[in-house]
Amino acid sequence: MSVRVVVGTQWGDEGKGKYIDMLAAGSDIVVRYSGGNNAGHTLVVNGEKYAMHLVPSGILHPHTRCVIANGVVIDPAVLIREMDLLAGKGFDLSRLFISERAHIILPYHKVLDELQERARAGSALGTTRRGIGPAYADKTERCGIRACDLKDFDQFAAKIRENLAFKNLVIERVYGEKPIDPEAVIEEYRPYAARLAPHVVDTVSLIGDAVDAGLDLLFEGAQATCLDLDFGTYPYVTSSNPIAGGACTGAGLGPRRIDEVYGVLKAYTSRVGEGPFPTEQNNEIGNRIRELGHEYGTTTGRPRRCGWLDAVMIRYAARVNGITSLAINHLDTIGKLDHIRLCVAYEKDGVRTMSFPADLKELARCTPVYEEFESWVGTDITHCRSYEELPKKARKYLERIEEVCGVPVGLIGIGPGRESIIQR
Ligand code: GDP
Ligand code: IMO
Ligand code: MG
Repeated sequence: MSVRVVVGTQWGDEGKGKYIDMLAAGSDIVVRYSGGNNAGHTLVVNGEKYAMHLVPSGILHPHTRCVIANGVVIDPAVLIREMDLLAGKGFDLSRLFISERAHIILPYHKVLDELQERARAGSALGTTRRGIGPAYADKTERCGIRACDLKDFDQFAAKIRENLAFKNLVIERVYGEKPIDPEAVIEEYRPYAARLAPHVVDTVSLIGDAVDAGLDLLFEGAQATCLDLDFGTYPYVTSSNPIAGGACTGAGLGPRRIDEVYGVLKAYTSRVGEGPFPTEQNNEIGNRIRELGHEYGTTTGRPRRCGWLDAVMIRYAARVNGITSLAINHLDTIGKLDHIRLCVAYEKDGVRTMSFPADLKELARCTPVYEEFESWVGTDITHCRSYEELPKKARKYLERIEEVCGVPVGLIGIGPGRESIIQR
């Protein structure tokens, strides 16, 4: 029996989906515990690409049950579209369970996300504009509408009317935009409720019973540590807790139940959206990494900002999440550059530090201290199937990452496919 959590250690898009798909093979249940369809997890199976936004990446294994837990915010239209797409490919969606406590994204969340971003003008956060922030804001403001409400549509409709009475005041009087018709929203959501209600269950019991029965559970993190509402580069973060602790609050899992935490990273760093990025290479190197790694957003298609791997950040993520093993991706990509740099510390006001500051002004004063690594450029590593087969220069890079971060590298990605993983 094991309870494992997979988290992102950087700013998202580390390739979590690939490892979740791999680890799901040995799991009875896969649980999404945070975020919403701001996530985009790519799985490549037998050469076919799947982009998952809400349905847990374990769905491609016929024996796994998949749970969308209470920490997730659900856009029903997006979820249904994804379910239909998977059903069309022959996957059995009766294995999908939705927590009664998960919050629902409504059209006014998306409208407000857009209007808030526009109003922020020069200081926009670069959100995915999927309504994620406003949906979580309603959750904490205690006016959110939950999946359990889908089962009682009269109650669902009453809550929409009540919420829109206030939201429309904001939309009209603060932003000067047209109000949203509550009856149109209710009619749009009526078929969604009918479709999703049969999947809505008590997932606390489902997960708790499975843990008690000694089954294997996998918790699928979305987003990442540096996008975490509490531990990320606030305010340039998402509105949930993607860290491993988020699996406890986001799924009703007791902290002592967690056996292993896999921290996923890339052999370099990428970020989509605004905010600080100490090792960013806004130059030819960054452009080359973007092209070699195909670094364009899975959800929004935006070009991702790219730079060197920041081991200070990964060490911070290791602590915040209690990472037991690192899972590194794109070793193939970084090996196509002529030289490689690794940030092993920051220098702030002439002093070396390993601390990841909260204050963005302080983070801006941190200059990366780099170590140079010889590249294995010209050596194709995509056929390697064991750690020992990797070029010595690649192993040297990985071993230095382990040393600085204080966590072993357990999994190594050398391509996007399910088969392109070296287990150490
Ligand atoms: P996630 O959100 O963390 O699941 O990551 P994304 O799917 O958004 O982005 C990761 C991208 O890198 C996807 O296009 C993957 O197919 C790709 N990828 C993952 N691992 C590797 C790897 O080891 N090498 C290469 N070349 N591509 C990879
Ligand atoms: P996965 O799971 C990368 C970023 C957005 C923006 C910030 C806030 O694929 O790794 P939001 O819409 O969440 O309010 O936007 O967070 N962001 C992600 N970046 N990967 C993700 O998910 C992301 N989810 C949110 O780009 O900067
Ligand atoms: Mg992604």
